[in-house]
Amino acid sequence: MSNNSPTVKFCNGQQIPIELHKVRIVQKLHLRPIDERFQAIQKGGYNTFLLNTKDIFLDMLTDSGTNAMSDNQVSAMLQADDAYAGSQSYYKMEEALQEVFGKQLVLPVHQGRAAENIISQAFIKQGDIIPMNYHFTTTKAHMELNGGTIFEIFTDEGLVIKSSNPFKGNIDIAKLQSLITQYGAEKVAFIRMEASTNLIGGQPFSIQNMREVHKIAKENNILMVLDASLIGENAYFIKQREEEFKQSSIQDILLTMCGMADIVYFSSRKVSSTRGGGICTNNHDLYMKMRDLVTLYEGFLTYGGMSIREIEAMAVGLRETLDETVICQSPSFIKYAVDELDALGVPVVTPAGALGCHVDAGGFLSHVPQKEYPAGALAAAFYIISGCRGMERGTISSVRLENGEDLLADVELLRLAFPRRVFTLSQTMFVVDRMNWLFKNRELVGGLRFVEEPKVLRFFNGRLEPTSDWPQKLIAKFKQDFGDSL
Ligand code: F0G
Repeated sequence: MSNNSPTVKFCNGQQIPIELHKVRIVQKLHLRPIDERFQAIQKGGYNTFLLNTKDIFLDMLTDSGTNAMSDNQVSAMLQADDAYAGSQSYYKMEEALQEVFGKQLVLPVHQGRAAENIISQAFIKQGDIIPMNYHFTTTKAHMELNGGTIFEIFTDEGLVIKSSNPFKGNIDIAKLQSLITQYGAEKVAFIRMEASTNLIGGQPFSIQNMREVHKIAKENNILMVLDASLIGENAYFIKQREEEFKQSSIQDILLTMCGMADIVYFSSRKVSSTRGGGICTNNHDLYMKMRDLVTLYEGFLTYGGMSIREIEAMAVGLRETLDETVICQSPSFIKYAVDELDALGVPVVTPAGALGCHVDAGGFLSHVPQKEYPAGALAAAFYIISGCRGMERGTISSVRLENGEDLLADVELLRLAFPRRVFTLSQTMFVVDRMNWLFKNRELVGGLRFVEEPKVLRFFNGRLEPTSDWPQKLIAKFKQDFGDSL
């Protein structure tokens, strides 16, 4: 085993991801009987966001704010220098950001979408366009709120579920060129690249691709904005998959990526296992366009809506992003789950990416029409039969158009997140086993419909109901096969 690859080979030849950490603080979990899980999902309007964690066994909703902190992060929190202005803790964080992202000017914000709000307000005018590899829900909402239109110009391979393409998060250069020609460079607010493209299965882009995008951006005098929320994992995949960087350090890869972006922003709920977020740049004019919005919406410039304790932990967490044994923990467990499910014939997004194992609900529940939300139905069904909570990433996470129809999502995914260093291998094996059972019984799962539908970001608080009594039938089959077992 090399020290940067957390897998070991067993005598039978099998490669197993191994935990390169020991567990010193633990939290008790409950695996409730299936009837109680059924009651819980009914109470939660068949929306896994509305479940109470007391009813959840493995919480695979997201890695956002749920990655395990290190001992060094927790101990740093005790050193917090509580001050409204000029806190030493802030300067530690600023220094960490300068070192890790290579950007000198830093604006703290309370989480990633706050950075999106500020960047959108500062740089998007009514009628502008924003080309990007793919949108994230909150990103799109803020950009549209400020009068922008987003264009997703991923390569054709980006949405192919079963693929061996190592960089499905790449931007299609020809599509970028033609957008600029069609609208004119002055209409492009900026080009956004999202590291480890979240909504298409945590898929990375390559440095080669970023270089090509950067060249076009510079030729046309267009800003480049990098969403670095999942940058550690993207850098890890570059090291694994891009020949030129096989011998590079993660730090060099991060500096190369960030060096091409005029603005780097992030949710530190993801990147540094804490809460909070930030915006970084080396350009003073850009900094000044955003600075006063931070004090207006977030807080003073040395805390930006974050607690000082979290700022301390963030400084440590950012530096830990440079440690390959830390950032590869989640991808290696995801790869294990994806490879096992793939071998069992369960449709999953390949190659394995960052953040989570993404089950292709469209393929899994091909009998459920897209307007009955197969990804939402799969999330509810999987919770009922396993107690594990995943997140719908399909049409429920999309929007309703003015004509009353759903804007159907490009892909219907159930995301089973693997927060960094949280789950064990036996828990991962349980997930694979129950998903395999559900796949064999997939015909029993039906669709969902909205009973309460918020106008903005409806997936968070929306309530749904099953289109038939399919949950009861699924539960009866579960009891028949598993008896009293949870
Ligand atoms: N950008 C990306 C790529 C994200 O994944 C997220 C959040 C945000 C921005 C917004 O950051 O939540 O701190 O405001 N992703 C979480 C997820 C919510 O579950 O994937 P935030």
